[in-house]
Amino acid sequence: MDARLGHDDRLMTFAEHILPAAPPRPRRPIESVDRDDAVAFIRLFYAENPEFGPAEPRIETVCRSIAEIGTYTHTSEELAFGARVAWRNSARCIGRLYWNGLVVRDRREIEDPAVVFDECVEHLRLAGNGGKIRPMITIFAARRSDGRGLRIHNDQLIRYAGYRDLDGSVTGDPAQVEFTRTAQRMGWSGAGTDFDVLPLIIDGPTGPPFMAELPGDAILEVPIEHPLYPWFAGLGLRWHAVPALANLDLHIGGITYPAAPFNGWYMGTEIASRNFGDVTRYNQLPRIAAQFGLDTSSDRTLWKDLTLVELNVAVLESFNRAGVTITDHHTESERFMLHLEREEKAGRTVPGDWSWLVPPISGSASPVFHRYYDPREQSPKFIPRGTGCPATPPPGPRP
Ligand code: ARG
Repeated sequence: MDARLGHDDRLMTFAEHILPAAPPRPRRPIESVDRDDAVAFIRLFYAENPEFGPAEPRIETVCRSIAEIGTYTHTSEELAFGARVAWRNSARCIGRLYWNGLVVRDRREIEDPAVVFDECVEHLRLAGNGGKIRPMITIFAARRSDGRGLRIHNDQLIRYAGYRDLDGSVTGDPAQVEFTRTAQRMGWSGAGTDFDVLPLIIDGPTGPPFMAELPGDAILEVPIEHPLYPWFAGLGLRWHAVPALANLDLHIGGITYPAAPFNGWYMGTEIASRNFGDVTRYNQLPRIAAQFGLDTSSDRTLWKDLTLVELNVAVLESFNRAGVTITDHHTESERFMLHLEREEKAGRTVPGDWSWLVPPISGSASPVFHRYYDPREQSPKFIPRGTGCPATPPPGPRP
């Protein structure tokens, strides 16, 4: 199904009553861009891009613009640099070695949710690239000075629905139960399998939210099998190839881009250990351990650990065989160490959050485990929507 559900006025009117008012929607007093943030960013841009000459004339233009109309417009070079540095500054990301290769799609002229949808589809096709994943960001219109702006409600462009059954159990991804319910109330209905791709729900600065399903050719997926155990394929596990985060605000030089979906490629542990392994997600360990005939009567048999390793092997091997880019946590740890070295040589400190950087299995076998990182936040940056602050993790379980 790739029917567009968004043009149905009846559904949309109904939807307006259902979606909670998103933070950017209510009108706020006109707010001017912070001049210091803008100047600091422009200085950084010129310091790292000396071929553009001295910073002063541009700083003058930017300050005049802020004084006159409360904001300014990034050049396309500033925008691309800002997005790449926001990735470089992402303290939780182990994959930052290639920050400078991020493909930046400048779509700042787009503020219409239906067009945002089309561009998200195009993003997924280009980033998926037939399996040779390209790290990519698409940047839509900046937040307006009255606080209104775009919002993609999905946390990623591709996510699987979670349906809570009558007995309290969940079919699909338990992390998506609430979002799935919202989509259903807006008129969407999924097939009810464990891997139904959710529709995108997108708000504009004004007007009703837009909802539509992604076309099949934008969704690259890999069925999971194991190189040694034929029964593994029978578990029916699969995962999508492109992790495209959609729920972070991109902050560059005082300007906020509230819709700027971006992706890298997967590290195997994200899918195998966390998405499949977590008790609060697909919770597959007991089921797979049983197939292996492991003794699950006591934690001390390490049945969870043994199963996790095989599950990780299965995910890595399946992506390899399907010709889809994926990385393992040892390779990615080595790359991150190289990144640290390069950044140090360039005279920069690398913000890092140990608790996110260390892989969820075999932590101490990774060099990332054996040191600490600078926790101080730097700008430009991505900020999880609605929290206002990237550096302070909320109390309670890590997502
Ligand atoms: N951990 C998230 C997931 O499993 C994806 C986060 C971003 N990951 C990445 N490799 N860029 O979907």
